Amino acid sequence: MIGIGADQGGFLLKQEITAYLKERGIEFEDIGIHTPESRDYPDIAEPLCRAVAAGKYEKGILICGTGIGMSMAANKIHGIRAALCGDCFSARFTRLHNDANVLCLGGRVLGPGLALEITGLFLDTPFEGGRHQRRVDKVMQLENAGD
Ligand code: RB5
Repeated sequence: MIGIGADQGGFLLKQEITAYLKERGIEFEDIGIHTPESRDYPDIAEPLCRAVAAGKYEKGILICGTGIGMSMAANKIHGIRAALCGDCFSARFTRLHNDANVLCLGGRVLGPGLALEITGLFLDTPFEGGRHQRRVDKVMQLENAGD
């Protein structure tokens, strides 16, 4: 199960991506926004990321205007490795090497064609493990490092 959410800057791209998920028969939950009203992106990022961290969603997709606000908010939640991707290489390698569990996209940056390619790579590419597991573990330990 995939979770997906957007603010007003990502609303239109979210419609494209949910249509793509439906086409592929991928189960998902759309946590909004459901109409193009203004909504603060942390209010969408937080519940989606908590659900990913709790295991309700295997992965999450968050879309705002740039993808930046969503990725900043998402990476504050323990257990989240959110990747802002604007190209296919990054989408592939953030799965292979970072085991990213949340994809962030810029709805005002990307056209739908590229955004769907990125989404497909994010969903279909497995984590490589091995030496990358050690590095991901070190990243996650930073959550408990204190200041
Ligand atoms: C909303 O106007 C915009 O700031 C938001 O969608 C996002 O781009 C923030 O990073």
